[in-house]
Amino acid sequence: MDLERLKKEAKKEAFLIRDGFDLERWRIKYLGRKSALSLFFNSLSKLSLAKKREQGKEANAVRHFFASLYKQKKEDLENNSFFPLPLIDITRPGEKIHQGYLHPLTLTLRKIIDSFQKMGFSIIEGPEIETEYYNFDALNISANHPAREMWDTFWLKSKVKPSSRAQVEGSQKSKMLLRTHTSPMQIRYMETHQPPFRIIVPGRCFRYEATDPSHEIQFHQVEGLMVGKNISLANFKAVIEEVVKDIFKQRVLVRFRPSYFPFVAPGVEVDIKIRSKIENKSTNEKSTNEKRLKIKENEWLEIMGAGMVHPDLFRRVGYKNNCWQGFAFGLGVERITMIKYGIDDIRLFFGSDIRFLEQF
Ligand code: FA5
Repeated sequence: MDLERLKKEAKKEAFLIRDGFDLERWRIKYLGRKSALSLFFNSLSKLSLAKKREQGKEANAVRHFFASLYKQKKEDLENNSFFPLPLIDITRPGEKIHQGYLHPLTLTLRKIIDSFQKMGFSIIEGPEIETEYYNFDALNISANHPAREMWDTFWLKSKVKPSSRAQVEGSQKSKMLLRTHTSPMQIRYMETHQPPFRIIVPGRCFRYEATDPSHEIQFHQVEGLMVGKNISLANFKAVIEEVVKDIFKQRVLVRFRPSYFPFVAPGVEVDIKIRSKIENKSTNEKSTNEKRLKIKENEWLEIMGAGMVHPDLFRRVGYKNNCWQGFAFGLGVERITMIKYGIDDIRLFFGSDIRFLEQF
């Protein structure tokens, strides 16, 4: 056997090694059990002792040469290679990509926004950190007003101490809190816009109260405000009936109950009653869990507070007297979601339990 030629060939091929696959192929060809060199070693047994010694010595030198060439190449690849060892197993099945889900509150919020948008309402956002003035005073909820207790508040500490009387009075406007409802945006929006307009303001609110199955310290509201000439509660009822029908996709009855909010007159609570079964058009595609969630039917359920905008608010923002009328409402997004999906505990929304979230 021409060991010199074998050496030359091996050297040439080693030069072309680019990755672990090449290297392994090279090793099998030149150092493997069935390599030409191994077969040559096997054939030595048939030779005389002297020849065996001589050719065995040469073959051993070649084997050492191959082994060190292999070691060298392996190190090169490990240090510089784009394809690091150990070898990539291309037959291994890929890892399954876990599909995420939209949070049920996101689904409801998107649906509510979509329904109002179809009726010409613009979507406005407001600050979650509010001043005491916009959250309470501008809405007729003065410091000693009993209604203030309905909105137990997370107050924010201010580092600025008022030093003059003017500042003490002004500080009423600048005392900060986490907004307890989205109604402050009624004032903020009217201060900078003239009627007619119709807006909704979706957003997060915070109340310092004990949690229970229907109360959380953080929740979402969608504020609504429509102002124009001759806007009445009848217009409000028509809008709400249309929106709840669109959200629940079934026959829904709407009723008003007298209520009190200092920034509306008159004030109402809005209840709905769902009349028929879940619309079944895509039932087959729904998961078993989703089918298990069931809307409460034939029961009056409260969904929001509302009323006709109090004339004080129009005066406060500088609108001309007796010129405009409007309705406002504040609906709880968690409440609507709980009714829509038959969820009986509000705390599940913020518990991050994947088993709950996977059902939607
Ligand atoms: C208000 O917050 C008024 N700003 C609503 C309003 C707007 C009235 C415009 C008139 C005109 P109320 O406190 O009732 O009202 O809250 C409205 C809705 O927010 C409730 O029906 C309820 O669905 C939701 N909500 C209130 N507090 C919580 C809470 N702690 N956890 C979860 N949802 C809540």
